[in-house]
Formats: sequence, structure tokens, C-alpha cells
Amino acid sequence: MKEIITVDLKTRKAADIAGYKADILVIGCFADEKTTDKLTVGLDRRLGGAIKRLKSLGDFKGKEDSSAVVYGGEKTGAKRILLLGLGDRKELNADTVRKASAVAAKRAVALKAKTVAFALHIAIANRLEPAQLGRAVAEGIYFGAYKYDEYVTKTDNGRLKSIKVDVVDSDPSRLAELSKSLAVGAAIGESQSYARTLANRPGNVINPPALANEAKKLARSLKNVTCTVFDEKQLKAKGMGGILAVGSGSKTPPRLITLKYNGGPKAAKKPLVALVGKAITFDSGGISIKPSANMDQMKLDKSGGIAVLAAIRAIAKLKLPVNVIGIVPSAENMPGGASYRPGDIVKTFSGKTVEILNTDAEGRMLLCDALAYAVKSKAGVIIDIATLTGACMVALGKYKAGLMGNDDNLIAQLEKASEESGESVWHMPSGKEYAKEMKSQIADLKNIGSRWGGACTAAAFLGQFVEKTTWAHLDIAGMDLFEKAADHCSEGSTGFGVRLLTAYIINLTT
Ligand code: BES
Ligand code: ZN
Ligand code: ZN
Repeated sequence: MKEIITVDLKTRKAADIAGYKADILVIGCFADEKTTDKLTVGLDRRLGGAIKRLKSLGDFKGKEDSSAVVYGGEKTGAKRILLLGLGDRKELNADTVRKASAVAAKRAVALKAKTVAFALHIAIANRLEPAQLGRAVAEGIYFGAYKYDEYVTKTDNGRLKSIKVDVVDSDPSRLAELSKSLAVGAAIGESQSYARTLANRPGNVINPPALANEAKKLARSLKNVTCTVFDEKQLKAKGMGGILAVGSGSKTPPRLITLKYNGGPKAAKKPLVALVGKAITFDSGGISIKPSANMDQMKLDKSGGIAVLAAIRAIAKLKLPVNVIGIVPSAENMPGGASYRPGDIVKTFSGKTVEILNTDAEGRMLLCDALAYAVKSKAGVIIDIATLTGACMVALGKYKAGLMGNDDNLIAQLEKASEESGESVWHMPSGKEYAKEMKSQIADLKNIGSRWGGACTAAAFLGQFVEKTTWAHLDIAGMDLFEKAADHCSEGSTGFGVRLLTAYIINLTT
């Protein structure tokens, strides 16, 4: 894939950070502290007190997400010093660092800085474990530097193609630890950018067969990953009626993409983890067509499936000793003469029949086949991720993904991974009372419940296809998209789920 912007991230020993040659030197500042670290004090001396003046004028207070530029002089190595607000020291966590790093990278790209000396971590010193610190820095830099402009042909404003970031430190033992955790963060950050690009590509570019080809290409580029794709004939032969029904109205046929990662001998004793992701390359609603306002956003209805592909990319790059199977059912939900319709009864891969009452509730129709396939593949744990319901967005806003499931331990593990990755989740119910709403009079199930609790009834529907397997469901509707750019991100796909799923797998190895 053509990279949008490449990030060249390295650690460098620098006895004199203030004298390190770069277009920008990035340092961190706390809001609740007057005294600063040695680096800032030394730098300010060389700048003739410019940082102190900036602060005393109140132009920069060190608040989270804030930043300010001071211009370097003859005595500094960098042309610009970028001060990043870290908020209050006592509230610092990995996500503060991740976000501040993203803000820094975004500003560096905007300023067309080709070389960045990154010393944000110096102010943080021992407040975070080195393993957490480097990972958050790297993830943040990739996140903030990202901008999707693949189809912008006019480049006369001098678009930056790559950015070189040197994380600088004078302490060799700290550098060694940092460089290890930076490499972990870089593998995850790069994979998240990969996800954002695939997700941002429109429906006329990425349809189900095109996504399957991307998955094959990805598998070829990785070690210990194999890709299998079922086309419409194989889906029919296997009885995957859910996936076929959803794809029936489109000129481009559906696919079931499977990526298998072999974690080596150490993985043999651990249960196989299935990551299942919804990949609707465009969701028009089908015969139950959606209103036209914001329908363009439904090109992102493939985000769950893409998060799965990208998480497998990160897991394989990190050579994690866990066996993982990624299962990504993909279809385009379109109205047409061959579309599935309200009233239809569909026989799914599990053998269960479903009465269709709304063709826009298509995600669960593909996922139910994929979940049953995960059970058949002997997964010990199943986690699905999907832009499943507008109701989840109504419940949680655009700040947290819904998390449901049938196992408290798995929920707790995902909550921990969420905390570490900064991809926020909220545990929601999906028990018996919700499942009851999904019963049909004329089939085993129906595909919509009542007006209320739509995220919970959707999860309860899915829960009936995992049998006794330990299972969790992530409803990421709303989390897939930044409608507007902010200080730490550009608009478009968020790549949500890549960091969360990878963090969950990393934690299985420690
Ligand atoms: N892809 C949508 C859910 C969605 C909505 C994702 C907004 C991101 C932003 C899903 O397929 C859908 O249309 N769900 C319906 C279900 C309803 C018909 C029961 C919905 O949420 O309205
Ligand atoms: Zn839909
Ligand atoms: Zn959808």
C-alpha cells in the first residue's frame, strides 16, 4: 500500500539535547509546576528566558492538548522548540503522553518539519514505566502524523512525504528500554495507520473482493500468516446464508476473509483467539434504505473488519506467541432487484433461521455466520468488533465503544487493554431479557428488537451464535470516525480497535 506519510522513528543518544540539530525539538511541560526539569531550564537559559516569558505572559499554561512554539537561536540545535502541555502531573497517564505526542506530530507535519528531536519523555522521567512510555509515544506520533490525502492530486503546497523522528536521551540505560517499547508502539501505530487508510478508501475503490485482495496482499507481506477467501460459490456451498443475503443486492459479491496467524511453539498451550470484524464496504441500508444525510459516512462500515486485519498485522510484526484467527465477513449492502427484503427468512451457517424485518440491520446477519464459523474453527475465545448500531452511539456518544459479552474475565481483560491503549470502552448488558426480544413467531430469530436498547438487543442476537464459547462484542459505531479534525488527529477514520485488540493479545503473553 502507498503510505500516506512515512514516519522514521528511532532512538538516539544525545549528550546535549538542547544542542541537537533538528527542525523541531519537542519538550513536555506540566500545568501544575513552576519548576521544570534540567533540560527545560538549560534550554531556557540558551533562549535568554523565552520559555519563562511565554509562560509568565500566560500564553502557554501546560494544559492538556495545548502547545506553543518558541523559535530557536544560535545557541540551540533546533530551529524551533515545541512545548507540549501535559496537564497536571498527578493526573498523568499513558493516554496523556499518547495524545501529547500526537499533537506534537500533527504540528510538526503542519510546520513541514522534516526532522524532529523528540524529548517529551524527559519531563515525565519516572512517572510511567518505560514499557508504557515508549509505546504511548510511538503510537501517538503515528496517530498525529496521519492524514488521508491519497486522492488529492494537487500537491503544489509541498505535502510532506516523510518525517524523521529521533527520540533523544542522554541516559544509555533508559535509551535501551525506550527503544524496545518504541518498537512495539511503532508496530501498533503503523498498523493503525494501515487501518485508517483502508477504511478511508471509498466504496467504489474497496468492495468485498478488493478487500479480500488487500488481505491476501497483507498476508503475503507478513510471516506466519495465511489468508483464505471464500467467494460467493463457496459461501453458498457452506450454507452461509446470512452473508449471502446481505450481499445479494450488490454488483460486487460478498466474501469471507480468514487470516490465520501462527504464534509458534509457545502458543500451542494457549487457546486460539478469534477476532471477528464486520466489513460492510458500504451500508446504504438496502431495501430499508437510509436517509441520504451523512450516508457517505457508511463507507466506514467496514471499520471493524479492517481493525481485525490491522491487529493481525501488528500481532504478526510483534511475533506474539498466541494463535489468532481473524474472520472478516464482507459485503456491500445495496438495494436492487436481487436484494434481500423485509419479510425474508434466511437460513444461517449455524442452521438457525432469521426473519428479516429491516435490511439495515445487516451487520448481525453477516456476523452470525462469521461467529458460527469461529466456533467451528475451535476458537477458545471470540471477540467481535463492529460498527453495529446507531443505538450504541445514542447511549454512549462518540467517546466510548460498547462492550458486551458472556464472560466477566474476558470483559475485565478487555477493560484493562482499553485503559492501556486509550481506546475507551463501557460495559453494557446483553442478557436473557434482550435475547427474548429477538425471538420470531415464524423463524428462530428476527433481526431487530423493540425501539429500546438497540445496542443490547443486537449484542444479544450475536450471543446466540457463539454457543458456550467465551465471547465479547465491541460495538464501535461512532468510534470509527472523526467528523472534524482536532489538535491530535485529522478527520476521517480513527482506526479504533487496532490498539485495543493488540493490547489484549500482548497481555495474554505476559
Ligand atoms: N452501520 C449501521 C450502524 C451505524 C450507524 C454505524 C451510525 C455508524 C454510525 C448499522 O448497519 C445499522 O444501520 N443499524 C441500524 C439497526 C436498526 C435497523 C435496528 C441502526 O442502528 O439504525
Ligand atoms: Zn445498516
Ligand atoms: Zn451497517
